[in-house]
Amino acid sequence: MDDVVLRTERLVLRNWRDEDRDEWAAMNADPEVMRHFPSTMTREESDTSLDRWKGVIAETRWGLWAAEVPGEAPFIGFIGLAVPRFEAHFTPAVEVGWRLARRFWGRGYAPEGAEEALRFAFEELGEREIVSMTTAENRKSQRVMEKLGMHRDPADDFDHPTAPADWPERRHVLYRLSADEWRRRRAGR
Ligand SMILES: CC(C)(COP(=O)(O)OP(=O)(O)OC[C@H]1O[C@@H](n2cnc3c(N)ncnc32)[C@H](O)[C@@H]1OP(=O)(O)O)[C@@H](O)C(=O)NCCC(=O)NCCS
Repeated sequence: MDDVVLRTERLVLRNWRDEDRDEWAAMNADPEVMRHFPSTMTREESDTSLDRWKGVIAETRWGLWAAEVPGEAPFIGFIGLAVPRFEAHFTPAVEVGWRLARRFWGRGYAPEGAEEALRFAFEELGEREIVSMTTAENRKSQRVMEKLGMHRDPADDFDHPTAPADWPERRHVLYRLSADEWRRRRAGR
C-alpha cells in the first residue's frame, strides 16, 4: 500500500526521507523551537523519532508527516496526526500536531497543513474527534489550534503524564474539534 501524500496550496505532507535527518536534528537542537518541551534533543533522539514516525506512516499510511514547500524547501518540519502513547482522561484519541524550523514560522504553514490533516482524519479515517495539546505557556501553538476552529475547556487541562515532575511547563491544555463541528465550519466558508 502506498503512503498517503497530502497536498495543500503551498505544502506537501509526505513520509520521511534520510535527507531530512540533518535539518530535523538541527531543529530539535534549537532551544527556541524546543522552548515548550522539557529539553532539546540529541542527534540520536532526533534520528530515533524520525525512524519511528517513518515506520508508523509506512505501516498505517498516515502519521506525523514531513512537510515540504515545493520549489523552496525540501523539509521544514512535521505536521500531522498521531495516537498519544500515554493514558489520560481523553485517551484513546488521535491528535493533530506540528513542529517547524524557526525560519518558517509566521507564514501560516502549520494551520494550512493541519487543516488538510484534519480533512484526512475526518473524511478518510472517519474519526469523530481530533484533539491537540500543548503546554499552557505555548501560545503560538494554541493560536494554530484556534485558527483550526478547535476549542479549549479548562476542565480538560492536565499534567502531562510523561513530563518530568519538576518541569515548570508540565501543565497542558487540550483543544478539541468534533467531526460535526469541522463539517459545520467547512460548510460555513
Ligand atoms: C507552533 C508553530 C508550529 C506555529 O507554526 P506557524 O506556521 O508559524 O503558525 P502561524 O504562522 O499560524 O503562527 C501562529 C502564531 O505563532 C506566533 N508567531 C508566528 N511567527 C512567530 C515568530 N517568528 N516569533 C514569535 N511568534 C510567532 C503568532 O502568535 C502567530 O499567531 P498570529 O498569526 O495570530 O499572529 C511554530 O511556532 C513551531 O514550530 N513552534 C515550535 C514547536 C512547537 O511548539 N510545536 C507545538 C508543540 S505542541
